[in-house]
Amino acid sequence: MKYVTISPELNQVSNLALGIMRWGDLTIEQATAALIAAQQCGINFLDSADIYSHGRCEEVFGQAFQMGNFQRDDWFIQSKVGIVPHKRYDFSKQHLLDSVDTILSRMQIDYLDLLVLHRPDPLMDLTEIQTAFDILIANGKVHHFGVSNFNAAQIKLLQSGLHQKLVVNQLQFSLAHTAMIDFGLHTNLDDAAGIDRDDGTLEYCQQHQLTVQAWSPFQHGFSVGTFIDNPHFGNLNVVLDQLAHKYQTNKNAVAAAWILRHPAKWQVILGTTHPDHIINSAQCNNFTLTRQEWYNLYLAAGHDLP
Ligand SMILES: NC(=O)c1ccc[n+]([C@@H]2O[C@H](COP(=O)([O-])OP(=O)(O)OC[C@H]3O[C@@H](n4cnc5c(N)ncnc54)[C@H](OP(=O)(O)O)[C@@H]3O)[C@@H](O)[C@H]2O)c1
Repeated sequence: MKYVTISPELNQVSNLALGIMRWGDLTIEQATAALIAAQQCGINFLDSADIYSHGRCEEVFGQAFQMGNFQRDDWFIQSKVGIVPHKRYDFSKQHLLDSVDTILSRMQIDYLDLLVLHRPDPLMDLTEIQTAFDILIANGKVHHFGVSNFNAAQIKLLQSGLHQKLVVNQLQFSLAHTAMIDFGLHTNLDDAAGIDRDDGTLEYCQQHQLTVQAWSPFQHGFSVGTFIDNPHFGNLNVVLDQLAHKYQTNKNAVAAAWILRHPAKWQVILGTTHPDHIINSAQCNNFTLTRQEWYNLYLAAGHDLP
């Protein structure tokens, strides 16, 4: 495993994280097995959100964490708040404070290492967020803050109203979802790939030392399914397979290594619930793709170079 420094106090954080979005239907035994597999690989970071399966994922985590006798100090635990499903995004002070209390209770823990605002709320009031964050720091319930799916302008705006530095931005990024780099490759062209939809967010995170957490690293869309072994991604799977053979590893590891080859500070958020897939993915840290291999994978995924 390799480790990143998210902030001076948040160091030695694994560059792979275990995401629990798909844990709603797991038994406690299955969830415990996933935690054990992750820990054996050196993964020490967990990502959640209060909305996952209406809170069930966090309950399953809490029970598995207790059952497996895991030590709180051995893990960095992050959750996300601010979405009221099918109704609104809500960064009001009371919603943030109440959400954290609910999360801590469900996960059976006393504090979150990181609290992340899940999706930008156009109605966000900087004073309210600042007050909520200051209260959460003062009462020890949250140690650090970040954002998810924020563009550069939104981060700048929010940061201008806070006493704490935002340390992560969680964004969708994978071989099959590359908008954040496509537009840079197509700068000054009038094709569709050249449209900057996110205000140079990746470059902003690099420049300002925000760790980028790649969500859905093996998915095409949010719910379309994985591109690994998917016949709709035939060319990509051929190249993934070639490189898996070359590095004596597997396709998940190559796909994760592709993300980590980019020079930003990354964490890859694994959504697999399967211990073998966790162990396979963790092999991504055993090798480094060459520059040409990185481009070969990008092209095989169906993207083009001008
Ligand atoms: N910030 C946001 O807006 C946002 C949005 C979505 C997700 N997230 C976070 O990102 C995490 C990861 O998202 P994700 O679950 O979409 O990520 P993912 O790791 O790309 O996808 C996991 C899914 O792919 C399957 N899979 C992986 N490798 C496979 C293989 N070799 N063969 C067959 N199936 C395979 C898994 O099945 P198995 O379980 O059987 O392995 C699982 O269903 C979430 O848990 C959550 O923490 C954040």
